[in-house]
Amino acid sequence: MKRVEGKVVLVTGGAGGLGAASARMLAREGAKVVVTDRREDEARAVAQELGDAGFFVALDVTQESQWENAMARTLEKFGRLDVLVNNAGMGIVKDIETMSLDEWRLVHAVNLDGVFLGCKHGIAAMRKSNAKGSIINISSIAGIVGVGQFPAYSSSKGGVRLLSKSVALHCAAKGYGIRCNSVHPGYVETAMVEALAQAGGQAEKTRARMLKGIPLGSFGEPDDVANAVLYLASDESKLMTGAEVILDGGATAQ
Ligand SMILES: NC(=O)c1ccc[n+]([C@@H]2O[C@H](COP(=O)([O-])OP(=O)(O)OC[C@H]3O[C@@H](n4cnc5c(N)ncnc54)[C@H](O)[C@@H]3O)[C@@H](O)[C@H]2O)c1
Repeated sequence: MKRVEGKVVLVTGGAGGLGAASARMLAREGAKVVVTDRREDEARAVAQELGDAGFFVALDVTQESQWENAMARTLEKFGRLDVLVNNAGMGIVKDIETMSLDEWRLVHAVNLDGVFLGCKHGIAAMRKSNAKGSIINISSIAGIVGVGQFPAYSSSKGGVRLLSKSVALHCAAKGYGIRCNSVHPGYVETAMVEALAQAGGQAEKTRARMLKGIPLGSFGEPDDVANAVLYLASDESKLMTGAEVILDGGATAQ
């Protein structure tokens, strides 16, 4: 039996990077996967790659009505929801002195409001499905330690960390059988990290500086995160809730 056979998963930000890698791995391990993103063409292509196991729904995670639609379409198509991967995210590289209030709000709208809405509507859909559900929130090591260059990203990801624990405790107290955990990657090779390296205008130098902070000496690959998502999605992690999975090559162990 495959590791998530028969489970229905919704992944946000599934058009590329960690979301697409997670969608592919979950489908390989037997799940039906609803691939969502606001980048519609790319996310639709990922869903099509998965054949019968994939289904595309447009979802901007900041819009509550789109969450309601995504959950309704998921239940209509696959009949249930077992796993939600709140993966969509963005960052703006500006320090506290240069960031505008609108930029601050935008980062929090996507990274924190989006996860709040996901947890809220995810729990409702999982309860309708009578599922032993798993909510997996992609935070960051920037949600554990502060980062001078991007305070809004760090603040929003720190919020995701404690929101996840609060959701976990609520669901446990209610006896829903729904778990909620956060995942904290360090630097992983995706478009987001490429943009971060390019932001200072000296990509090679920046990459070398980023690598210096990683004791294991290399960036992560998207499948390093997808493997953690797969574990949390599966019943293998049935004792885990309110916990943090850190995947950073030792960066925050120092
Ligand atoms: N790559 C890393 O090193 C790294 C490290 C730590 C945490 N993360 C987190 O992992 C997650 C995935 O990042 P990634 O590296 O794959 O980046 P990415 O930029 O490749 O993917 C992010 C996806 O989120 C989508 N998105 C952005 N705003 C959205 C919105 N409002 N509604 C719906 N979708 C939206 C984008 O379209 C994109 O497809 C993010 O939450 C990110 O913060 C990434």
